[in-house]
Amino acid sequence: MTHQKYDLSNYLFDKKPLIIKEIIEAYDKEISNNMVDFAIFSNGVSNLYELFLQKVAGNSSEQVVNIGVKIEKFRKGEKITLENFLSFMESARLIIEKWIISIPGEEIVKSKGIAELNKFFLDIQREITLQLNKVNEDRLKVKNAEVYRLEKERMQILSKLSNSFAHEIRNPLTSIKGFIQLLESRIDKPADTDERKYFDYINREIKELEVQVNQILFLSDRKNHQDYNLKSISLNQIVLHVLRTFQPIINEHRIQLDIKLPKHSMVNGIEDHLKLAVFKLLQNAVDALLMKEKERKIKITLNTKKDEVVLSVTNNGPPIPEVIKNSLFDPFVSTKELGKGIGLAITKQIVEKHHGKIYCRSEGKWTSFQLVFPYILGK
Ligand SMILES: Nc1ncnc2c1ncn2[C@@H]1O[C@H](COP(=O)(O)OP(=O)(O)OP(=O)(O)O)[C@@H](O)[C@H]1O
Ligand SMILES: [Mg+2]
Repeated sequence: MTHQKYDLSNYLFDKKPLIIKEIIEAYDKEISNNMVDFAIFSNGVSNLYELFLQKVAGNSSEQVVNIGVKIEKFRKGEKITLENFLSFMESARLIIEKWIISIPGEEIVKSKGIAELNKFFLDIQREITLQLNKVNEDRLKVKNAEVYRLEKERMQILSKLSNSFAHEIRNPLTSIKGFIQLLESRIDKPADTDERKYFDYINREIKELEVQVNQILFLSDRKNHQDYNLKSISLNQIVLHVLRTFQPIINEHRIQLDIKLPKHSMVNGIEDHLKLAVFKLLQNAVDALLMKEKERKIKITLNTKKDEVVLSVTNNGPPIPEVIKNSLFDPFVSTKELGKGIGLAITKQIVEKHHGKIYCRSEGKWTSFQLVFPYILGK
């Protein structure tokens, strides 16, 4: 604490009644709010001024954080717009500045005083704005939580509905399948007749229907992962197997494949489920690539780290639309005309049941999905 500072604060302390009076007048003039509780207001201004004096005297280490909260509460209570209030604060600062300038004394003392004053007001303004942002943020958080809850509720209802529909379809489908097989066994036409072809066609369609229905039921499968027959499985083999299914479409649409698979990448799991997960990712990659004319590329890599196997499926199709990025793995989210929106939901479920994680990144040219599984040492 310097002697000069002490002088300035003494001087400002002497002038306190006059300065406070001017500040209150400025408030009346600029905000002219009849609602204000005068005693509370002048008390508040007085306290604020005291704190400033202590700062000038170098006696206070008190932060202005709590003051920001109090002032912001006052502003809101009085229904004063932030703009008007900040403009009043500026008037108050100017009043004190004028008094500092009028002090008989050295310029250096005045300059230091004004610098202290500016810092004090800036700190307060920052605290008021921060406080305001915090209140807005809190409100936004409550709203977001509500939207999230409603969305979850909607999903649960949708899942329940589709699940019961799927059950309703599956049962008659099973009997249709049985009767068709019975009928087929009773006709004694050779294999290449039209009748036989019709049966083939019906059987194929029934099979497709079964696959679709089972996938919806899969989503609500509560069966424990451990209840299945878990095996040590090579992810490389799974990828190669699924790729074979896609080979015709990959050739037909001239999709360039870039595959990097190590020899060992064993995970503990259910083979059919893992195949389904990889199938869904590749299906999406192909769907995306069909939306562009040329230079279609898919990259598949498997990396084995110390205790993880990471499978990446990447393509250079159009990026994932921003609007669905947050709900990408929820069921029934789709941008495709005939999409059911269950591919990624199923994939996520499978990965999580294998104690793995799924990540997505879609930026610029590349869209990439990563499946991360715990690695087990295989032969
Ligand atoms: N590789 C990708 N590139 C671009 N968009 C993608 C990709 N994968 C998924 N998407 C977006 O995510 C949405 C959801 O994918 P998801 O696989 O769950 O459903 P779907 O493909 O629309 O339908 P389906 O149930 O037949 O799989 C897609 O509609 C698409 O908009
Ligand atoms: Mg899909």
